[in-house]
Amino acid sequence: MSDETRAGTGQTLSTELVDDVLVVTIDKPGEAVNTLSTNLLGEFEGVFLRVNEDVLIKGVVLISGKPDGFIAGADIEQFLEITTAAEAERVSRLGQDLLNRMEKLRVPVVAAIHGACLGGGLETALACRYRICTDHPKTSLALPEVQLGLIPGMGGTQRLPRRVGLQAALDMILTGRAIRAKKALQMGLVDEMVHPAILREIAIDRARGLGDGTRKASRPSNHGATSLLLEHNPIGRGVVFKKARASVMEKTHGHYPAPLAALEAVQAGYSRGVEGGLREESRLFGEMAVTDVSHQLVFLFFASNSLKKDPGVDAPAPPPRPIKKLAVMGAGFMGAGIASIAVQQGTLVRLKDTDTARIGKGFAAIAGVLKERFTRRQITRQQFDDYLSLVGGTTDYSGFGSADLVIEAVFEDIALKHKVLEEVEPVINDSTIYASNTSTIPIGRIAEVAQRPDRVLGMHFFSPVHRMPLLEVIVTPMTAPEATVSAVAYGKKLGKTVIVVNDGPGFYTTRTLSAYMNEAGRLLDEGASIESIDTALVDFGFPVGPITLLDEVGIDVGGKVGLVLAEAFGPRMAPSDAMRRVVSTGRTGRKGGKGFYRYDESGTKGQVDDSIYELIGGQRREIPAQEIVQRCVLAMVNEAVRCLEEGILRSARDGDIGAVFGIGFPPFRGGPFRYVDSVGAHRIVEQLEELNARFQPRFEPAQLLIEMARARRSFY
Ligand code: NAI
Repeated sequence: MSDETRAGTGQTLSTELVDDVLVVTIDKPGEAVNTLSTNLLGEFEGVFLRVNEDVLIKGVVLISGKPDGFIAGADIEQFLEITTAAEAERVSRLGQDLLNRMEKLRVPVVAAIHGACLGGGLETALACRYRICTDHPKTSLALPEVQLGLIPGMGGTQRLPRRVGLQAALDMILTGRAIRAKKALQMGLVDEMVHPAILREIAIDRARGLGDGTRKASRPSNHGATSLLLEHNPIGRGVVFKKARASVMEKTHGHYPAPLAALEAVQAGYSRGVEGGLREESRLFGEMAVTDVSHQLVFLFFASNSLKKDPGVDAPAPPPRPIKKLAVMGAGFMGAGIASIAVQQGTLVRLKDTDTARIGKGFAAIAGVLKERFTRRQITRQQFDDYLSLVGGTTDYSGFGSADLVIEAVFEDIALKHKVLEEVEPVINDSTIYASNTSTIPIGRIAEVAQRPDRVLGMHFFSPVHRMPLLEVIVTPMTAPEATVSAVAYGKKLGKTVIVVNDGPGFYTTRTLSAYMNEAGRLLDEGASIESIDTALVDFGFPVGPITLLDEVGIDVGGKVGLVLAEAFGPRMAPSDAMRRVVSTGRTGRKGGKGFYRYDESGTKGQVDDSIYELIGGQRREIPAQEIVQRCVLAMVNEAVRCLEEGILRSARDGDIGAVFGIGFPPFRGGPFRYVDSVGAHRIVEQLEELNARFQPRFEPAQLLIEMARARRSFY
């Protein structure tokens, strides 16, 4: 017997009675994913009422109507309307109450999870009596709130530790890490894992079994002897909390309050019981919701989402050309990296280099990336083999004739870039897109020798390609919109966040990063120590300091970039004496085992190499950290604003995303443009003018900043 009550228009929940089990389907109309918002409360009330009134109902199944997502979390759009901590706390209490009632419902509720089960979605599942997930790769469970500067606000900080143990729960809550199906089963986060085809059927069966008592709800498992020892007594738990706090502080340098708040909420649950813990969770959720950090992280979330929908050209955008075959020139560091992510999207790749030994090295590098994924169980042995079989090597241009896209990643040398472009053009199709991965050379200069400059653009990947989230697509006035949208669409397919910028030396990312690195070099000239510069900027929030970064990128590479930019921008970007001297010794940084720092054979960084100071010359003296930060950061910010003013950037949004995702600008500060807004353009101009009085003309404020300061305008 089945009685269906299709909800009316606008409803998210619909119910169907399958014999004695009520199947509740959550399917937010008109949206790709399900999210939770306060207007769902009433709908859930309706369901609860019905269950309580209809004694024939023995169990409930909660399942999603979306093809590959359970619940993606709270509705962030609605969340943005919240302006006070008290209001956020109230919303959290409402969510908690709802789930408390679901947990205590007259009959058991079974969560049937397929696809993303995130944030409030997982908190809902945790309040169910039983959880089943599918064994599909799209199924993943996480509490990612800290990534938005928040903490779980619907009981997650209380129910998760009780379900999977304190240490496993803290790992999830403090990092936002996603857990795949198999792991979720192993750790007791779900009770069962099934094939998607039978999810609903099994869930109904389990709800019935739990309802009529033929099946028992699983108890949270004890998680090994060590964790038992640690977690089941206050002293042991004290140790766990202390370690967790220390690890958070080490990772965040105290810049992110949310993980610490989450820790507090979890801890309150142990010292004051669940009720007290829930109250503390709501209170802290409210507090976090109005932090500046949370506003910046939520902004980045929205900005990267809006980029996903941006075709890369202003309307009307032509349809992108699908990229099925890719030719990569240069099997080096970047070429192999690009190939390694392309094969994982099923792209057939032809890798070209000057000799077979180099191609062999490229293959080994690709295999290395895939092996890491295999070892982490992110891909199967079969996938590993399949992906690797998609790459073919060549020392001539065979196979290039059928490529949809060529990516050139040969040495950073304009003569070589011209030579390979001239060689390739006659063997590729008229419609093939030609992209250079240059990090500095203007695309227009590369395209000077092209027969079809409308097919030429830049696709600037960052290293290591498989980890770095950004792709900067560079277009010239000649680039055809169809080539742009195709490169953008393919970049997104490769999993990248893509910004499109107009051509110019260093485009956006290299140019702004260079302004910042160059200032670090000037500070060395003036006597600052290497450690003091690196420490000051790490304390500001960069993942590594500029001098360490230079060692990573390669001092030789930095030297070449510096020359191109100095030629283009004159005294503002003229290399420091320190840099010029170190470059001239041939030290290359980590890859050569010798840089500003010492490296052991495995490439692990050691202490500063003191012999550098003899090379640089001059006395070391203390320059205050505040001055170091101000000079390096403002050099970057001012250059970023110039990029917007000159039309290199299409928007401030792109500039913020590019800086955070590409060159390590601290995410909790939102990006250079958000930084200007938080400090105030007039304050930034004042600071720049003060610095410019000392270091003319490096800090001359960008015209746009001056105008904004005058009009008291902000970028957002
Ligand atoms: P690499 O030195 O690791 O690789 C360059 C490869 O090009 C070598 O294997 C070389 O044999 C090959 N090559 C030289 N002439 C060739 C030809 N005629 N045909 C085919 N292959 C040829 O250099 P890497 O680091 O991969 O850089 C490549 C490009 O990517 C450069 O333009 C660089 O500026 C850019 N880039 C580098 C980044 C990095 O962090 N290494 C980041 C972003 C861009």
